[in-house]
Amino acid sequence: MRFKKTFSRLLLVIGIISYTSTQFTIRANEPDSAYIFAYTSEAMKGGGGLFFAWSIDQASWHQIGPEHSFVKSDYSAWGSEKRMYAPVLFQAPDGSWQCVWELNDRDAAFAHASSPDLVYWGPQSYPIIMPEGNCLKPDITYDAGLKEYVVTWESNKPGKSGVYRSTTKDFKAYSPIQKINSRQSNKIELLIDGAKETGTLHRVAWSVIDKLQKAQQLAAYAGILRNERVAMDPAVMRTPVTATISLQPEKKKPISDLLMGIFFEDINYAADGGLYAELIQNRDFEYQPEENRRDPEWDSKKAWSVKAGEIDFNIETSSPIHENNSHYAALTIKQAGAALVNEGFDGIALKAGDKYDFSLFVRSQEAKRGKLLIRLTGKNGEVYAEASTSTVPKEWKKLQVVITAKQTTSDARLEVIPQQTGRVDLDMISLFPQKTFKGRKNGLRADLAQVIADMKPRFVRFPGGCVAHGNGIENIYRWENTIGNLEERKPQSNLWGYHQSAGLGYFEYFQFCEDLGAEPLPVVAAGVPCQNSAKHNHPIGGQQGGIPMCEMDEYVQSILNLIEYANGDAKSEWGRKRAAAGHPKPFNLKYLGVGNEDLITDVFEERFRMINDAIKAKYPEIIVIGTVGPFFEGTDYVEGWELASKIDLPMVDEHYYQSPGWFINNQDYYDRYDRSKPQVYLGEYAAHVPSRYNNLEAALCEALHLINVERNADIVAMTSYAPLLGKEGHTQWNPDLIYFTNTEIKPTVGYFVQKLFGEHSGNEYLTSQVKMSNNRPDIRKRVATSFVIDQATNDLIIKIANLLPVSVASTIDLSNMEPAENQAAVYVLQGDPEDRDARPTASSLEVSSQLKYELPAYSFSVIRLKIK
Ligand code: AHR
Repeated sequence: MRFKKTFSRLLLVIGIISYTSTQFTIRANEPDSAYIFAYTSEAMKGGGGLFFAWSIDQASWHQIGPEHSFVKSDYSAWGSEKRMYAPVLFQAPDGSWQCVWELNDRDAAFAHASSPDLVYWGPQSYPIIMPEGNCLKPDITYDAGLKEYVVTWESNKPGKSGVYRSTTKDFKAYSPIQKINSRQSNKIELLIDGAKETGTLHRVAWSVIDKLQKAQQLAAYAGILRNERVAMDPAVMRTPVTATISLQPEKKKPISDLLMGIFFEDINYAADGGLYAELIQNRDFEYQPEENRRDPEWDSKKAWSVKAGEIDFNIETSSPIHENNSHYAALTIKQAGAALVNEGFDGIALKAGDKYDFSLFVRSQEAKRGKLLIRLTGKNGEVYAEASTSTVPKEWKKLQVVITAKQTTSDARLEVIPQQTGRVDLDMISLFPQKTFKGRKNGLRADLAQVIADMKPRFVRFPGGCVAHGNGIENIYRWENTIGNLEERKPQSNLWGYHQSAGLGYFEYFQFCEDLGAEPLPVVAAGVPCQNSAKHNHPIGGQQGGIPMCEMDEYVQSILNLIEYANGDAKSEWGRKRAAAGHPKPFNLKYLGVGNEDLITDVFEERFRMINDAIKAKYPEIIVIGTVGPFFEGTDYVEGWELASKIDLPMVDEHYYQSPGWFINNQDYYDRYDRSKPQVYLGEYAAHVPSRYNNLEAALCEALHLINVERNADIVAMTSYAPLLGKEGHTQWNPDLIYFTNTEIKPTVGYFVQKLFGEHSGNEYLTSQVKMSNNRPDIRKRVATSFVIDQATNDLIIKIANLLPVSVASTIDLSNMEPAENQAAVYVLQGDPEDRDARPTASSLEVSSQLKYELPAYSFSVIRLKIK
């Protein structure tokens, strides 16, 4: 049934392709010019971006696409924002196209973007022009005498209502605004496909329309290719397929040995409640309602309750342990025996016989003070563990006690039972398994860290993603808030809708890298927050506002401090803090990411350059990794690459989450990269199937891509799948590489692809060729190989992906290699494309100069053999 569907889809694809190609034919009789109407759909409330329709006679109109947009508003948050209202397109005397539009009825800015040809659109800008007002229906005219544009708009905010104007020569600097009495509008109304739309009318050369049409058709064709799936009807093979794989060992090149790494972001409860081994949720009473508006119980008492006896439980802020950690619990116990209870993150998992470090800060001004009885209990009152602290002190002090679990359970809770009456204040109530990864204090969950370590990552990118640049300027991740004593760290809201305790902070990240034998790759914001920020704590919202320039010196210094913290002498100001945390030796930081898929605007560029220049001047040895947007194409990709090339950055960070068809049909993506330009760090990628599971289909596409990346590992120096972790029941993003609960680790099929590549990477690439018995492009493109040498072990590693629905009898010609042993190890991942449980199997294979290997249907194989 599925194959029937796939086959008819294939016929449809072929049909559409041939239809599309007829559109590409050159016509013999076309007009010199025509009308074009630029508008945004009323029905889509501006979410569709700018549309075009053309006409010869202004009577019959033809939509391009029909509703294909080459430019959409990228302002502020997803969902209700990112809308283009009332756009006005204007052709400047130099032929360029200038477009302005309204963003919303709230903010003090309008939007501007320009294009040379209506197809490629440059960076958008959102000038803050109307403090205390708004910018409705912006319009453009041109003053030919003064050679400047005149932008007009309306404001309806109280005290600011009226019509305004400003002039500009470049849409970067604007003259002071002036109130005017009236203005002319360029807009007209037209009926397009039965709907009344408002926009601007232009007479253009036919070539302009022709280019728009062809660009739209190419985009449509790329969309068809992207829809290709891995599952295929075996009947389309017609005859068995064989492959001859030959090697040209003389054509070799050194490749990056840092290719396989990981990207850890605190998304999907990856840190608190995840990798960070703390078992107490909201240990610091710092949860704030605005962090998670979906949960009505999300506040400083979240995960806490009281049990038995007469007890008042309040949150106080008047005299905290530290100003960064201002909330604490204030209990007033009327009758001893009452307990403060924590439910953990989905319960507390305990293992019989394991020891747990309990600690808290506590004080009581009462004359008669008692100890605290600490219990780990079950829902029905079972006591799994019990211990007592020393007597509660008068002033804030840390008390600690080790507690041993008598029973294994996944669902315990913590009870803190003061053995006194009166007022007791408590904070930083913590319970840590002693068995953390590598036994580190304040460490990481051992099983989860181990499954990561098993991938043999060569580097770790952290702490985000969007978490690094944050939800608005105030939420930019500041590394210095995450080091030092836990009670002095500054917790913050997590842009994915929860809380970051900062317990897993920069020290712990660096230490984890060291424990993994991986290079640390921290990412700092480029002075701008996430492009999708919803916070309006700036005159205009989101990324479009950066850290004010008057605060940028301080921000740049904080980044320089980070480098000193990682690499400085233990006597230096920041190196001393590292040494105080127990690591006098430097962490040997070599790479630093600046920015995360930001909009490449003037606001970004100004700040990025400041940061980059300062690092280059003080720490020229640090490899700064720039950012080129969230997609494999588009304005931020183009502008990001242009900036990186212009300022000679050593490396840029690319991101793309794509469908199987994209990976199948873009195998030469990096082969066409200019080797003289910056290197690539593919910092975030994943194959997304419609079900959003990482199944064999997705995993095979990722393997295929990595094979193609390995061929290009002279330019693609590093890669990391994203996101890494997802706690079941708490995901904001799917698919993730490794799912987990409090007691189980559930790696996906894709995890095993990453692991196979991590375990079998190399540092030298050998050119190979695949010749198939059936050379049809749809068959040929589904088999890919790469040959690498691991010089440390002198092993030849052959990776082969077979995305065909049939097995392929292959002969690997090793006649020009000298095998050292007669057996090769073989690891194979295979199954049905929908399979979510496929796991690699290991076997061995007789080595010969014409090595015979049957590539299973839908498989990824790694063959590893010793050579002389
Ligand atoms: O990996 C999840 C998110 O995807 C990252 O935070 C962000 O960089 C990207 O948009």
